[in-house]
Amino acid sequence: MTIQADIIPQVFPDTTRALFEQAYPDAHVRLGHNLSGHALLTREALAALAERLPNDRVEYNRGDLPIGIRPEDTPANGLSVSDTIRSIDDNGSWMVLKNIERDHGYRSLLESALTEIAPLVEAQTGPMLHMEAFIFLSSPNSVTPFHMDPEHNILLQIEGEKTMTVFPPGDEALVPPRQSESFHGGSHRNLAWNDAFLAKGTKVHLTPGDALLVPVKAPHFVQNGPSVSISFSITWRSKRSVAEGELHSLNATLRRWSLPLVSIGKAPERQALARLFYRIMRKLGV
Ligand SMILES: [Fe+2]
Repeated sequence: MTIQADIIPQVFPDTTRALFEQAYPDAHVRLGHNLSGHALLTREALAALAERLPNDRVEYNRGDLPIGIRPEDTPANGLSVSDTIRSIDDNGSWMVLKNIERDHGYRSLLESALTEIAPLVEAQTGPMLHMEAFIFLSSPNSVTPFHMDPEHNILLQIEGEKTMTVFPPGDEALVPPRQSESFHGGSHRNLAWNDAFLAKGTKVHLTPGDALLVPVKAPHFVQNGPSVSISFSITWRSKRSVAEGELHSLNATLRRWSLPLVSIGKAPERQALARLFYRIMRKLGV
């Protein structure tokens, strides 16, 4: 069934709200959604969107990658943006369209979805900050290597299927503190992979109509199914996620000076003294 571009249904079924409430913000959970078949999320609409977006908001490369790969080793696919989408069935590619909320129709979709869960989010982590939306398009069997993202994220599967293997956030065996510090300092999202990590991951299979809450900095990798996959990702930050980033950045500086590091707790937004110290240092340009 096609949903017209100017109609936005209730995005999350009532039954999934309780699941979200129990899991947020620290655990992943499978949810449902009603956006499959929406006119703004067809391949044709997304190809037109990709051509409207500035170049720096579209990232794409070959999709036949190993789970662990260094960013500088990621190969280009040799095609233009529009050709990549038009031939995504068989060009072996992975693509992300970033900040699509800058486009009016997609902004409405993002706002509608987030408004439905805002009260549940605010009760746990305060007001939603810095809301953004992304589209992931990938060819059959492509892989998104092991990485983490800085936002609270719900991934809505629109077309095709994929399996995300998601790992718990905050496990220093998976992401050592130095890696968190350089991540918040602007280094690439990809993480060092070790096959021994696999035992800590949970596989979540997603088909159209499924959604997945992915906690802030929960490491994950994604294996596409046998057809083209399109996913819509809606994200936000919170005082907690911002504070956690600040404290890791503070620790990067303290480590450079060989000073004792700040211990980052479950509620970094309440670590007022350390955050004040971080802000003073930033003002001083340290
Ligand atoms: Fe991700």
